[in-house]
Amino acid sequence: MSGTRKSDTLSLMEHIDTFPTAAVAVVGDIILDEYVWGEVSRISPEAPVPVVDVKNQTIMLGGAANVVNNMVSFGARPILCGVVGEDEEGRAVLERLEQLGITTEGIVLERGRVTTKKTRIVAQNQQVVRYDREVRSRIGEASRLAILKAVKKRLSDLDAIVVSDYGKGVVTPDLMAELISLTRGKKIPIAVDPKPPNFPFYKGVSVITPNHYEAAAFCGFSITDEEGLVRAGKKMLCDLRCSAVLVTQGREGMTLFEKKGRVTHVPTVAKKVFDVTGAGDTAIAVFGLGLARGLDLRSAAIISNFAAGIVVGEVGTTTVKSDELKKAIAASLLEL
Ligand SMILES: Nc1ncnc2c1ncn2[C@@H]1O[C@H](COP(=O)(O)OP(=O)(O)OP(=O)(O)O)[C@@H](O)[C@H]1O
Ligand SMILES: [Mg+2]
Repeated sequence: MSGTRKSDTLSLMEHIDTFPTAAVAVVGDIILDEYVWGEVSRISPEAPVPVVDVKNQTIMLGGAANVVNNMVSFGARPILCGVVGEDEEGRAVLERLEQLGITTEGIVLERGRVTTKKTRIVAQNQQVVRYDREVRSRIGEASRLAILKAVKKRLSDLDAIVVSDYGKGVVTPDLMAELISLTRGKKIPIAVDPKPPNFPFYKGVSVITPNHYEAAAFCGFSITDEEGLVRAGKKMLCDLRCSAVLVTQGREGMTLFEKKGRVTHVPTVAKKVFDVTGAGDTAIAVFGLGLARGLDLRSAAIISNFAAGIVVGEVGTTTVKSDELKKAIAASLLEL
């Protein structure tokens, strides 16, 4: 927080109160996260593997749907645009979204496609195995057009678009080009949580938010020190012609590279770290809400870093609430 004045920090708090009015479209890969909870007390006589005695099963929204989940937790009502299959998992996704109180008009049911599901079998608090059921081929043209139609319908009141790319086929060069062209000349920033090797698709978006591994994969060199990080930031800004690149760095926090040349490092505020799953989704969700409500890039990054710092400190929780976020910011104010 060095260099941040008290008045700036107070203004961040005020912006959080405006999150419920943010109109955001989240476009991307919808995932259903399934957890099978059980206990292991013996090794199978059939093969050297543990036998899990299943006690419970839970599901959670993942991928782009978890980004939306994070936004809803701040009172926002985003529209989620993506694809599910005509299967039980697809119906579970729709049901969850309805429970969150948000529209499902942007969800396309693609015949012949399966809904991406990641199943973790957990025993004695340890993951025994994870298995995925998915197709990663590009979505069909009809699905792409339906997604674009849903975005277009909302365009006149949209404040921002967040693209959550998990490399499962929703984000294609055509879709990105069309989203960029729809928003041209309008004040609708596009922020992308990217996936290598799709980086070239994002040319011309406002901001991308890779983690440092993704940034290194695109740049073709490993990022081991500050010099490498700066080189990577500059390369991505230049190659993808973005206004900014926000590189998230796990326990090191995040670094914002702006086109104008300013580089801002935001150190993590996490005091305890229990579960880092979903931190990236929380970060892009809050960053997107911040941009939607008119925060500058730097303030949006600071606020998203606070939110991600909270979410990693909680086990099994993937979202943060406004009052928790404001409390964390208030606590840091005392330290200034
Ligand atoms: N181990 C950690 N300690 C402290 N803060 C963390 C840690 N991991 C993540 N964070 C916070 O969460 C933010 C995003 O995390 P990270 O850089 O790991 O993104 P990611 O790799 O995209 O995450 P995901 O695995 O959810 O996709 C970081 O910028 C930081 O603020
Ligand atoms: Mg990520």
